[in-house]
Amino acid sequence: MSGAATWAEAVVPHLKALHLGFLALWVAGLFALPQMLARHDRTDLRAEFAQIRRATHYGYVWAITPAAVLAILTGGILIFLREAFTVWLFAKLVLVAGLVAVHAWAGHTIIAVAETDGEHEPPGPLAPTLVTVALVLGILFLVLAKPGLADLPLPRWLLAPLGHQLPFDVPSR
Ligand code: HEM
Repeated sequence: MSGAATWAEAVVPHLKALHLGFLALWVAGLFALPQMLARHDRTDLRAEFAQIRRATHYGYVWAITPAAVLAILTGGILIFLREAFTVWLFAKLVLVAGLVAVHAWAGHTIIAVAETDGEHEPPGPLAPTLVTVALVLGILFLVLAKPGLADLPLPRWLLAPLGHQLPFDVPSR
């Protein structure tokens, strides 16, 4: 066994532990944010409204977004260390993109509720929570069962380079 392989094998369990820790924090945040947004009630005392607004904003910026970035970073490194260039991994990334969309929607809603002076009502927590549950269960199924998806019917244009030019001009160097 080469030195590099030994090094990579030794690092994988630690990186996986970090990956799981960061994504637990991220996903917990994606469940908490819709609940917190639903508590943005302008009929509350001004100080209480400011309190929940600040907790949501700072939680998003200083805890949930960094956890998302670090979960994705550790996952990205794991792809190369585990050489996981597989169909289940790419299917997982499509679902992770869904989680990123939920994350971006929450950020957009935090700003919209805070800055439109009552014009943007926060939505109920049910729909975003159900979407997150579906995405997380799909991801966990893919990553734990690692189904062989090699026979997945894909359109031909996804399976081979088509040799097309870009639809715009680019500099020669
Ligand atoms: C861009 C984001 C992500 C990337 C690139 C990524 C990539 C990876 C890779 C390469 C592994 C190692 C797989 C193996 O050793 O066989 C892994 C493990 C794992 N990932 Fe992710 N991941 C990402 C996000 C997530 C998310 C959002 C979740 C859950 C909601 C998740 C759940 C897991 C779990 C549970 C494992 C451990 C699987 C095992 O050891 O059998 N990952 N991830």
